[in-house]
Amino acid sequence: MAINPPIDATKTPAWVALQKHYDELQAEGISLKKWFAEDPDRVKELSFDAGDLHFDLSKNLITPETLRLFTFLADEVKLGDRIKAMYSGVHINNTEDRAVLHTALRRPVEDEGKYIVDGQDTVKDVREVLDRIYKFADEVRSGKWTGITGRKIETVVNIGIGGSDLGPVMAYEALKPYADAGISARYISNIDPNDLAEKTKGLDPETTLFIIVSKTFTTLETLTNAREARTWLLEELTANGAIADGDEAQKAEAIKKHFVAVSTNLEKVAEFGIDPNNAFGFWNWVGGRYSVDSAVGTSLAVVFGPARFEEFLHGFHEIDEYFANTPFEKNVVVLLGMLNVWYRNFFKAASHAVLPYDQYLHRFPAYLQQLTMESNGKSVRWDGTPVTTETGEIFWGEPGTNGQHAFYQLIHQGTQLIPADFIAFVNTPNPTKDGDQDVHELFLGNYLAQTKALAFGKTADEVRAEGTPEEIVPARVFTGNRPTTSIFGVALTPFSLGELIALYEHITFVEGTVWGLDSYDQWGVELGKQLAKQITPAISKDDEALAQQDASTQALIQFYRANREF
Ligand code: F6P
Repeated sequence: MAINPPIDATKTPAWVALQKHYDELQAEGISLKKWFAEDPDRVKELSFDAGDLHFDLSKNLITPETLRLFTFLADEVKLGDRIKAMYSGVHINNTEDRAVLHTALRRPVEDEGKYIVDGQDTVKDVREVLDRIYKFADEVRSGKWTGITGRKIETVVNIGIGGSDLGPVMAYEALKPYADAGISARYISNIDPNDLAEKTKGLDPETTLFIIVSKTFTTLETLTNAREARTWLLEELTANGAIADGDEAQKAEAIKKHFVAVSTNLEKVAEFGIDPNNAFGFWNWVGGRYSVDSAVGTSLAVVFGPARFEEFLHGFHEIDEYFANTPFEKNVVVLLGMLNVWYRNFFKAASHAVLPYDQYLHRFPAYLQQLTMESNGKSVRWDGTPVTTETGEIFWGEPGTNGQHAFYQLIHQGTQLIPADFIAFVNTPNPTKDGDQDVHELFLGNYLAQTKALAFGKTADEVRAEGTPEEIVPARVFTGNRPTTSIFGVALTPFSLGELIALYEHITFVEGTVWGLDSYDQWGVELGKQLAKQITPAISKDDEALAQQDASTQALIQFYRANREF
């Protein structure tokens, strides 16, 4: 089905109204202090709950009127129609002519037969693959599935890159307290040989299982690392006498026991030598960066178990339903997407910080970078016409409190406006005391203090009142009015992690819809891949290929040739 041309958001009455509203706020003077003082209901009006996550938007540079205009804009760009189109399998990824159905990955069994897309019962197929993954995961966890020498698997090594790595490794790190089968995971992604060298160090080949994850099964990095891992495994098993040198049947058996694959391209999996019975599929309607809850998350099902994986899926589904069914004016997912547009296009904020106050979420910002920036880092709209306003802000972050001692200076006192999401949880799996002090509360004290400091700042008079010498006063002033959203969860669980991921998936979608983008293609990664293929032969041997390079590339290669020592 053809999709409608994008609506130019900047030409809508809602956009014009938002611009007027922005100009008026600037003219009156934006002051969170004043807004809090004048409106005792501000926090109530700007707080929301979705699933078991609580959201406080009150420390943003918005008023209840801004929210009203956000919903007006959502209506004008026909966000509702677009949500329906996505959920029902319209090919909204039009540059690749594909449906966008990550929401089908987490639908319950009862939805079988209800989402037939291009002739496929999507939910039925999803559940079939999940059943196979769960059976496999149970076998590995219980020790029924063993390595070639009969020993239980102790380490799964996920080899993949981009969406086939960032989601699984982020979720593995986030859910570590739930690992309950004595199995740990490692993740190899970079084609830099250092990655594989370090991640295979200390591994026992007899108890190691590799999961090769690649949607296309053609990605250079992943296939190179998979071949290297195969060589490593066979050499190590031969060296320790587990298999006989030159025994091809034993080698094939070792690969069968120690390699499984996840891909949409099962033919290529078979070509690699992996038994198709040990391959878990997914479909081209799952984008790589939207795939952690598909078979791409197999390492998670093994480490944490099928029940936890199901809870993870329920968390996603909770937010999917909330997003699709909550009126826009109360729909915090829609409002957060619009808030990002507000900062990007009206305040011209170029970046957005995501600051988890939970060490287990330390890979969450890296994961979000692919999700958001590969989705919305674009200059043309889904009909090929140029965008009409800025798109794709830079997402970045580190866990608090580490960030506080690194880059928060710039957020507090720098010259740019950096909206920030602060994410924390009420409960911790590691409660401890330092004397009488609960350490988690000490941590949360920082979470709360930072958004307060950013919002309300410190005036020159307040600084003076502390006895600060006059010449140092300006350096110690905090302007305040630096916007933050507080996201507070009850605990970091498989369920709430699923909620958080779905939240950002849909925020990304809302922004993409306003900007008229196909948020599901990624043509911008292709040119570099093509050129790498052309340049690699020129590096050490092919002088003809070298001569075809630009002067800068040639000079860099000459430097390499002159200094190579290995
Ligand atoms: O390079 C971009 C990309 O296509 C990502 O979108 C994707 O997640 C990654 O490469 C890995 O692709 P694959 O899963 O096909 O190996």
